[in-house]
Amino acid sequence: MKTTIKEAKKYLNQEVTIGGWLHNKRSSGKIAFLQLRDGTGFMQGVVVKAEVSEDTFQLAKNITQESSLFVTGVITEDTRSDLGYEMQVKTIEVIDEAHDYPITPKNHGTEFLMDHRHLWLRSKKQHAVMKIRNEIIRATYEFFNNNGFTKIDPPILTASAPEGTSELFHTKYFDEDAFLSQSGQLYMEAAAMAHGKVFSFGPTFRAEKSKTRRHLIEFWMIEPEMAFYNHDDSLEVQEQYVTHIVQSVLKNCTIELKTLERDTEKLANVVTPFPRITYDDAVKFLKEEGFDDIEWGEDFGAPHETAIANHYDLPVFITNYPTNIKPFYMQPNPENEDTVLCADLIAPEGYGEIIGGSERINDLALMEQRMNEHALDAESYSYYLDLRKYGSVPHSGFGLGLERAVAWISGVEHVRETSPFPRLLNRLYP
Ligand code: 4AD
Ligand code: MG
Repeated sequence: MKTTIKEAKKYLNQEVTIGGWLHNKRSSGKIAFLQLRDGTGFMQGVVVKAEVSEDTFQLAKNITQESSLFVTGVITEDTRSDLGYEMQVKTIEVIDEAHDYPITPKNHGTEFLMDHRHLWLRSKKQHAVMKIRNEIIRATYEFFNNNGFTKIDPPILTASAPEGTSELFHTKYFDEDAFLSQSGQLYMEAAAMAHGKVFSFGPTFRAEKSKTRRHLIEFWMIEPEMAFYNHDDSLEVQEQYVTHIVQSVLKNCTIELKTLERDTEKLANVVTPFPRITYDDAVKFLKEEGFDDIEWGEDFGAPHETAIANHYDLPVFITNYPTNIKPFYMQPNPENEDTVLCADLIAPEGYGEIIGGSERINDLALMEQRMNEHALDAESYSYYLDLRKYGSVPHSGFGLGLERAVAWISGVEHVRETSPFPRLLNRLYP
């Protein structure tokens, strides 16, 4: 019977064949322990000299790291391993022998591993992070589909710049200028006027010269947009969505979280409602905490966000930022016109902002005025203004950065390990 490591538990005490790779091994004169991997998981194969042919035992002892093989044997219970079972190997068939695999069990530097990202993905830790990423993707579709949202795909090649003009990748679109999308938001607003509640999930690009543990040049963003939702309604969706992905990972990725030695108690504490603090109060709090470098009207840096997040030990919404540090489309706060109806969701444990969202201006004259102030060319945004001409309604939306969410939930330090092939300031290879 041909099966996989993940499915093998169904075949307890039966003989099966699994196609995989040799991850690692150790052996003595009488026994060899093969660490096998097949994409679905990692499993130990035990080869006992007295129970296999001499050829098979020699093969088990000499087989090289990352050689591909078919192993056949009986699945038996193994309560000591995370998996709960192992294989008593009977025969091994080598498919392709690997020589001098570059990533050995010793320590390699980050740059070396990043240069070998195509191989590094095979490691146990990287495998666990990608599985968690996949679970967050699955749970995202589940959440929005179960809550009446329609997925709409905004274009990637665009003529406009929702999040400011300084961070755009420029390209030619035949004779015109085009940019890689920074955010699908403006198109999602159009889609919300057609479908009510919509979400997008796709790649976005920022030509940002930031070299931090939170910044990628290319990242995936989930952008829901909801007609007739005010800012508070949107915050509720955000906390329910984030709670759903955290709980889904806790439920469906127990082996991966263990591999990553993630403190799952911290994740289990993530339940609604999330704490909220206004920008004004956050500035006061930071001053009390001894941050002399922050003045009202300035954006927060990573240390500020971390100090606020540490105070709560939960994701926290910072609401109502000053108008002048946020994009043109945000609805003014009726209680203080120097601020807007927006929030950033800051993850715990120093992972920083994972969501940015706001209520959108729905008044045509105000939108035109704000676009003027931001020196945006009204002609290339005329489709966006149309949304305010033909049946404009209050609406809100937000964007969650997938890789930052994966970093936080997995507990990995740097977002580069949360993207299969990260694009970084100095990295376009592999
Ligand atoms: O705060 P941002 O720039 O918001 C928007 O783009 C809005 N148009 C979203 C919307 O309302 N539809 O980005 C949203 C999120 C951030 O909170 C962060 O998680 C992620 O996208 N993000 C990045 N992730 C990795 N690398 C970068 N360079 C990122 N820039 C933003
Ligand atoms: Mg933001």
